[in-house]
Amino acid sequence: MGSKLIIALDFSTAEAALRFIRPLSPELCRLKIGFELFVAAGPDFVKKLVDSGFDIFLDLKFHDIPNTVASACRSASSLGVWMINVHASGSDVMMRAAKQALIDCDSSTKIIAVTVLTSMDAHQLSKINITNQPAEQVKYLAELTQQSGLDGVVCSAQEATMLREHHGKDFLLVTPGIRPEGSQRGDQSRIMTPAQALEAGVSYIVVGRPITQSNEPLKVIDKINVDMS
Ligand code: C5P
Repeated sequence: MGSKLIIALDFSTAEAALRFIRPLSPELCRLKIGFELFVAAGPDFVKKLVDSGFDIFLDLKFHDIPNTVASACRSASSLGVWMINVHASGSDVMMRAAKQALIDCDSSTKIIAVTVLTSMDAHQLSKINITNQPAEQVKYLAELTQQSGLDGVVCSAQEATMLREHHGKDFLLVTPGIRPEGSQRGDQSRIMTPAQALEAGVSYIVVGRPITQSNEPLKVIDKINVDMS
């Protein structure tokens, strides 16, 4: 089934990312490429990592009119990536168009949605005229995501228990904000350990700095894989 660990490759150049990846293998982890690295290194870099056997989560959070998002999903999928994402707030019409684009090109790429960014609190939501509490809004958008036929959502580990109960065992819950015991929390505020996240029903965890800034990344990776097995 493969590792439940997705390492966030938050590097500013392809060279730095490749240096980090060199001792890793696809059995140990999956890899997430976000805006920073994608803008710096481009689609050929993504393809290179796909060709070396890694499952790649291309975290570009598409949010645009349905036709544009559908086309972007088709292009992303043609790179051979394992997973992509969109913003659920782009609407059910946008999410359905994205999913249909993948079906039409016979793609096996998984597609998940971001519900509410964890940087948004109730006050921030109210400033864009959303009066729901963040947890209610997450619940609402996760429901919309599942009804639109997507494979799952990005969520915080705190939301995972509620979402797992409601959406069943096959709905993917992909969770950042994870800190192995003893590691720095950095700017993440609501954190869980890998074992707690597994217990909460998370499908995959996203971990960045505790691994990428460690002097012994392989040790941290092994420990996380053991904790989650
Ligand atoms: O270094 P750290 O483990 O905090 O990295 C977490 C990764 O997950 C980063 O790439 C960050 O952008 C991403 N992320 C997050 N919180 C979200 C969504 C994505 O930390 N709500």
